[in-house]
Amino acid sequence: MASKIIKVDPFDLVVFGGTGDLAYRKLFPALYHREKAGQLTDPTRIIGVSRREMSNEEFQASVRDALKKFGEADGGETVEKFLSRIHYQALDATGDKGWSEFKTLMDGDERVRAYYLATGPDLFAPIAKRIGAEGLASPRSRIIVEKPIGHDGQSANAINDALGSVFLEKNIFRIDHYLGKETVQNLMALRFANALLEPLWNSAHINHVQITVAETLGVGGRGAYYDESGAMRDMVQNHMLQLLCLIAMEPPSSFEADALRDEKLKVLKSLTPINEQNVGQLTVRGQYRSGFADGGQVGSYCEDIGKDRSETETFVALKLGVENWRWAGVPFYLRTGKRLPQRFSEIVVGFRRVPHEIFAHGADGIPANRLVIRVQPDEGIKLWLMIKDPGPGGMRLQHVPLDMSFAEAFGVSSPEAYERLLMDAVRGNASLFMRRDEVEAAWAFVDPIREAWAHSGEPPRPYSAGTWGPAASIALIERDGRTWNEEYA
Ligand code: BG6
Repeated sequence: MASKIIKVDPFDLVVFGGTGDLAYRKLFPALYHREKAGQLTDPTRIIGVSRREMSNEEFQASVRDALKKFGEADGGETVEKFLSRIHYQALDATGDKGWSEFKTLMDGDERVRAYYLATGPDLFAPIAKRIGAEGLASPRSRIIVEKPIGHDGQSANAINDALGSVFLEKNIFRIDHYLGKETVQNLMALRFANALLEPLWNSAHINHVQITVAETLGVGGRGAYYDESGAMRDMVQNHMLQLLCLIAMEPPSSFEADALRDEKLKVLKSLTPINEQNVGQLTVRGQYRSGFADGGQVGSYCEDIGKDRSETETFVALKLGVENWRWAGVPFYLRTGKRLPQRFSEIVVGFRRVPHEIFAHGADGIPANRLVIRVQPDEGIKLWLMIKDPGPGGMRLQHVPLDMSFAEAFGVSSPEAYERLLMDAVRGNASLFMRRDEVEAAWAFVDPIREAWAHSGEPPRPYSAGTWGPAASIALIERDGRTWNEEYA
């Protein structure tokens, strides 16, 4: 099925941190794919900005290499067309070098200007303020920032204040790339475009929810960032809490950005607080040691970051509660980690068991229905049901999935999250971006957990690379009589 391409009016996208990993690995390939899809119109420009001195031609050559490496581009007219849009400006984000040339480059018609800050969060405030001071922020300008927005609530406030002093909130696009993933949006379609599930979507019918984001990779070359961050800030504060919000939110009154974000915010504000009193029962944090993962023998986290010791967690499991009428008493189990046995992200909605069993079925009785939403890879949805084992010989039951694989069903590969998010930001559609109050509410939940960990003085629990994290994370769910989902393939 061909997807419909809506062309985007000409715009200027300025990438601060234009020679960085994110730009080469994700942003330029994503924009190139939009070029290939025919979405970009003339005279759209993409302007890389970084401190390094480089000519336009040198920069274009580096982008060409990146497209080959990360964008499956093997030359041809589309690549040349795309490269013709690429410009470069050497500029010192915190000094004066390059700003007057940059201003000249940005002179011209009143088109949409999107400033993408693919830099560390410490540069968000200075760059935003300077853009304002140079008169480069018109009402049609937008600023796009990556997570992490700060490292705690206080630093996030300071960044948000600085962004807000130059740009209107509706022009600030805070990226959480999980919201750009196809299946994450499908979750909204599943919930709000079908009447079937809504009557069941509450504590009367749902026993618990699980969210897993498992990665096989270690921290790679990002040790310096990661050691300051850890899994809680890197994954839970943003991606995982956003997934939880989409599962737990009330149906919004419309698909407008603020209607969606109002409902997500209510979920964040309803989370049962975790603090020193309950952190031991409700959280587990771990750090990988050496082991066998990602197809080979791998070193420990400390070896990966080149330090003798570190208290940073590479794994977190949490048991959360959402304190409202819909979810009272329904636990939400979250886990995420590096160097786990498989790479996948999924949401499991575990329904209640049948109230009265009339069929004999093993020692544990009839298993409860489960709805499994596979975010990646093999995007799709499976609804596990009980059916009769076919054939004669009495009433034997089987647990089988109603299975919808999106790739098989639609025969198209969905655009990368960044393709969708970049085009949405340019078009001014903020539905898939985080509003200021959401980011701050997420920090307000996460900060006390991190403080409680720090106070406890206990280091993260070790787990061998290639295992499902510390044994305590299995105990976290099993002591409630539940298990982490193992049924997908
Ligand atoms: C990023 C984190 O936001 O998300 C990384 O900083 C993580 O540590 C990545 O690996 C996971 O994203 P994806 O799309 O590969 O699941």
